[in-house]
Amino acid sequence: MNNVDTLKRAAAERALEAVSSGMIVGLGSGSTAIWVTRLIAERLQDGRLTNILGIPCSSMIEAEARRLSVPLTTLEEHPHVDITIDGADEVDPQLDLIKGGGGALMREKIVAQASAYEIIVVDHSKLSPILGTKWHVPVEVIPFGYGSQQHYLEELGARAVVRHRADGTVFHTDQGNIILDCAFGVINDPVSLAKKLKRRTGIAEHGLFIGIANELIVADTDGIRQIKRGQPF
Ligand code: A5P
Repeated sequence: MNNVDTLKRAAAERALEAVSSGMIVGLGSGSTAIWVTRLIAERLQDGRLTNILGIPCSSMIEAEARRLSVPLTTLEEHPHVDITIDGADEVDPQLDLIKGGGGALMREKIVAQASAYEIIVVDHSKLSPILGTKWHVPVEVIPFGYGSQQHYLEELGARAVVRHRADGTVFHTDQGNIILDCAFGVINDPVSLAKKLKRRTGIAEHGLFIGIANELIVADTDGIRQIKRGQPF
C-alpha cells in the first residue's frame, strides 16, 4: 500500500467504529470508501460484526461486496439506512461536498438521503476553502438532447465537457446516463447553483451534496481528525 492508500484505509477504519452489529449500512463508492466494504467483510468473517446488511452505492461496490460475501439488501426491502460511509472529491468547511468523480453520484445521493447518518471519509488533499477550487461539478444528464443541457450549463457559467473513459469511449453511469464535468470555478453560492441544476429537465442529478454529511473523517500524515457538522475544520 502506498502512503495515500494507508491514509484512506485509516480514515475508513475510524469510520467503522460507528458501525454496530444489526445495522443497515450504505456502502459508499470510490477508492476510499471501498475500504469500508473490505473492513466490514473482515469483521463479519472474524465475528466482530454480525447481521450487517449493505446497500451498495455503485455496481463497482456491489461487485466487491459480493466477491467478499458481504450480505446485501435494497432500499425496497430496507428504505431506512442506519449509516452510510462514503468518500468525496472536495469538502468545504461547512461539510458540503462535490462528489461524482467516479460517476456514482446519483446512487450515492439516493442512499445518503435515505440514511440517518452520513460519514464522509477523505484524505487531507480533499479539503478546500470553497467548493469548485479543486474540482469540477459532475452533472449526470440523460443522453436524449444532452446538447441542450450542455448549453444550459454553459449559460450558468460552466465549461461543460462530456466525460470519457481512458479508452476514449463515452462514460456511462450505472443508470446509462452521461456525465458533463462542469468547471464553474469557485462556487460562491452552492445552494443557489444546486437549485438551478435541479430544476432543469434532462439533468438527472448533480454532484453538489449540500447539507448531507453529518460527519467528516480526515486522514492526515499526522493523524486522523473527526469533525461533526457545525464544528470548524
Ligand atoms: C464516486 O462517484 C465519488 O463520489 C467518490 O465518492 C469520490 O469520487 C471519492 O472517490 P475517491 O475516494 O476514490 O477519491
